[in-house]
Amino acid sequence: MTNALLNHRLAAAKPSATYKIIDRVTELRSRGVKIISLCAGEPDFDTPQHIRHSAIQAIEKGHTRYTQVAGLRALREAIARKFARENGLSVSWDETIVSSGGKQVIFNALAATLNEGDEVIIPAPYWVSYPEIVQLCGGETHIILCGEDSGFKLTAQALARAIGPRTRWLILNSPSNPTGAVYSKRELDELAHVLLEHPQVMVLADDIYEHLIFDGQTFVTLVQAEPRLADRTLTMNGVSKAYAMTGWRIGFATGPRWLLEAMEKLQGQQTPGACSISQHAAIAALDGPKDFINESRKVFERRRDLMVELLNQAPGLTCSIPEGAFYAFANCNGLAGRKSPLGSDLNDDEAIAVALLEEANVAVVQGSAFGLPGYLRIAYALSDDALREACEAIKQFCQGCS
Ligand SMILES: Cc1ncc(COP(=O)(O)O)c(C=O)c1O
Repeated sequence: MTNALLNHRLAAAKPSATYKIIDRVTELRSRGVKIISLCAGEPDFDTPQHIRHSAIQAIEKGHTRYTQVAGLRALREAIARKFARENGLSVSWDETIVSSGGKQVIFNALAATLNEGDEVIIPAPYWVSYPEIVQLCGGETHIILCGEDSGFKLTAQALARAIGPRTRWLILNSPSNPTGAVYSKRELDELAHVLLEHPQVMVLADDIYEHLIFDGQTFVTLVQAEPRLADRTLTMNGVSKAYAMTGWRIGFATGPRWLLEAMEKLQGQQTPGACSISQHAAIAALDGPKDFINESRKVFERRRDLMVELLNQAPGLTCSIPEGAFYAFANCNGLAGRKSPLGSDLNDDEAIAVALLEEANVAVVQGSAFGLPGYLRIAYALSDDALREACEAIKQFCQGCS
């Protein structure tokens, strides 16, 4: 009955598959069960002190009013400097937009451009929100499975096969949530080569994990690789992951003016504009010292090495080496079809994730939530000790499967 009163696209939207596990974690914890949760999509560090301080100063100075819809000019100038300094993109401050998180940037870009029947190409595994946002905005998803054999990455051949007359967008996320895969300059060149033949296709480059990239690799964004795509690429980023600022809700983008203007028009009737205090904090983040970024990269790289080593010791799991972000994407096909230590049928990755939670008290998210069954996404945004403890519990669970 209530569903009949809802907007039909919202009624059709699935609640995030990750909530099921997270709700169960909350329930178990409320009963006093000690759970190690490896589900978090955020760094476990505090926001750096100089950024917090600038927010306090913003409050004290009375910067507590509405800002321009597209963001404070001072922040947009800092964003233009960031794009020049870190991505080699030469953009003017008025070719940027600030939103309440990267998620709002993505939502507004798709809502501003999609019409019924338009298709969005999403390489899987994908961030859980992409397909839902596309569907909420009236578009249709065209999912391309990108397996472990291609490093969980979209190849030029697969892209060329997928593009059709209804394709409106391609979403590219590097480093990737959930696999940590990173596109090299050569791989971007190959994709760009295909995209140049299809001028009707826009690209959303989701660079939110840009700074969490390991093994001395250099991050390259699509427009840097192929400047001829600048007039149809929205390059999105934010402060959430790089500066441990997930709760401050600041995301931003650069792209063609017509698109930014449409997104601003939409935003003007929504939020309208991001929190003024957070915007001042984001200026301090972007213009300030970069030691925090370097330090957190080192910490995550160390944890990545630890996780890959320990997870590969668990019989039934294999884990390739993620090149960025803070997720391991472990293949759990070796456990499928077996029984858990307490006798549950491990029919698929979801059953494995549930049994790990119920029997080993470790929470992870099944790969099928991200569009690729047979895997577990394991976030390593926790202390080394907690990660060791979690991996030991996972190993014992795997050893007990029959
Ligand atoms: C791939 C990806 N893109 C975008 C976001 C959105 O980040 P925020 O809205 O915090 O800026 C997230 C958050 O988890 C993410 O994983």
